[in-house]
Amino acid sequence: MEGPLDPTTLFCRHNPVELEIGTGKGMFLASATSSTPDRNFLGIEVRVGYARMAASRLAALKTTNGIVLHGDAMHLVRHVLPNASLSGLHVYFPDPWWKARHRKRRILNPEFLQHAGRIMQPGSQLHIWTDVEEYFNEAVLVVNNTLLFGKASKEPAGGLENTYRTHFERRTRLAGDPVWRAVFTRNEKPSQQNRLVTKIPNYSITSSQT
Ligand SMILES: C[S@@+](CC[C@H](N)C(=O)[O-])C[C@H]1O[C@@H](n2cnc3c(N)ncnc32)[C@H](O)[C@@H]1O
Repeated sequence: MEGPLDPTTLFCRHNPVELEIGTGKGMFLASATSSTPDRNFLGIEVRVGYARMAASRLAALKTTNGIVLHGDAMHLVRHVLPNASLSGLHVYFPDPWWKARHRKRRILNPEFLQHAGRIMQPGSQLHIWTDVEEYFNEAVLVVNNTLLFGKASKEPAGGLENTYRTHFERRTRLAGDPVWRAVFTRNEKPSQQNRLVTKIPNYSITSSQT
């Protein structure tokens, strides 16, 4: 898929669109599409089996506000999504890539997060949850370095003890392990550096150094 693509045009109703990166089996998309029918949810998953599972889950619910894409989220944010096209971004339990030589594969990297700021509307929220404390701390630092978001707030777990946002959250909490959660709000007003970002075309790699 090549851009630019306004994600609202994918859905039958012209409602705000939120994106989930790495849907896994689709638990978040299933509950979000059912509980929030006035918003659209796009999910992207790189593993075809999981993408199919998530899509089947949505089909079984017969909701019309959820779509699953099979592919690489990095390509989607780099080349497809236009500026300020998302009303929310969800990254739950991203692969931690433990080995030092694989660290560069982490999705919550500076380039991704700079694009996240670019494609998110002012006031929209970025949710990051993980069971890896070191990855969480690194991600918070990288988000702050973009200067595109306000300070992180802790995001509480679901209301009831047995409600889970995602399959991995369920697995982690049932094992008694901690979950690190943060929510960031996209700045309303661009900072000096952000003004530079908005000047360059949609598909450029935007960085605070440019
Ligand atoms: C640890 S699992 C978490 C799944 C789900 N978010 C959850 O919390 O249950 C990470 C998921 O992200 C997917 N993923 C990893 N890199 C991706 C990428 N670049 N684009 C899209 N999906 C990706 C993996 O295939 C996997 O399904």
